[in-house]
Amino acid sequence: MPNSTNRRTNSNSVIANSNKGKKNRRRQRKMEAVVQRLCDTCNIVFASCGTGIVPSDDNINWLRRVLDQVTPNDFDLTPDMPYFRALRTEGTQPITYLHLYNCDKFSMGIFCLPRSGVIPLHNHPGMTVFSKLLFGTMHIKSLDWEGDAARNTLPVANVSEGLRPEVRLAKVKVDSDFTAPCQTSILFPADGGNMHCFTAVTACAVLDVLGPPYDRHERHCTYYLEFPFSTFSGDGVSVPEEEKDGYAWLQEREGEPKDSTVEVRVWANNRWELM
Ligand SMILES: [Fe+2]
Repeated sequence: MPNSTNRRTNSNSVIANSNKGKKNRRRQRKMEAVVQRLCDTCNIVFASCGTGIVPSDDNINWLRRVLDQVTPNDFDLTPDMPYFRALRTEGTQPITYLHLYNCDKFSMGIFCLPRSGVIPLHNHPGMTVFSKLLFGTMHIKSLDWEGDAARNTLPVANVSEGLRPEVRLAKVKVDSDFTAPCQTSILFPADGGNMHCFTAVTACAVLDVLGPPYDRHERHCTYYLEFPFSTFSGDGVSVPEEEKDGYAWLQEREGEPKDSTVEVRVWANNRWELM
């Protein structure tokens, strides 16, 4: 039989549910507003975008300014969420991708990495990519191809399965730790470090905007292994001794790395649901 305590409990839980509902609706509206602002900007910035077509300087700076204002609070992201919890004591950590939007001109989403999580070295063919670190510390290593492919590609003997039998010379563009809040970083089809690898020094979240987006046929994502410059040598390929750390050989991996898992989630029913 209900007593006054139960009535109080029931009415408290109704109020709590109602408050939770209001909080969820506020959270949803806040996130929708941020995604809408980003989409409105990207629709203009990437309007005439295609493979290898870079937006104008003015448009790049505009999108950078918009991204610089985005905070983890806009998406209610905090390092204590399950996506940022390291699940393994050794080996690679599972990565989560929170999908925000995709069209034929651009795509955007948030990578959530637990501490020591790695997004392996990969490329962005013909794309301009904006990366905004929302929180945490991340080590970014990025490279661009050096010179023309014919001159700076060497054959590799006794190659392992799943690897192309050649390596190509690349120049290191960035090899540093970044801690949020920091400026949005941008890479281009042929410079700015088009191939990059992310390693989470702490749990971190990074908002990525890609224009144009990956495409299975035209803009396929390729993964690479990296080797120090001194690993291989070939006729006509030489760099001064003191600059050797600034170069590396990259070997193309066939398919997606088996040691890396990315769980994709989409916003549905007021939460990030597995796709
Ligand atoms: Fe990337």
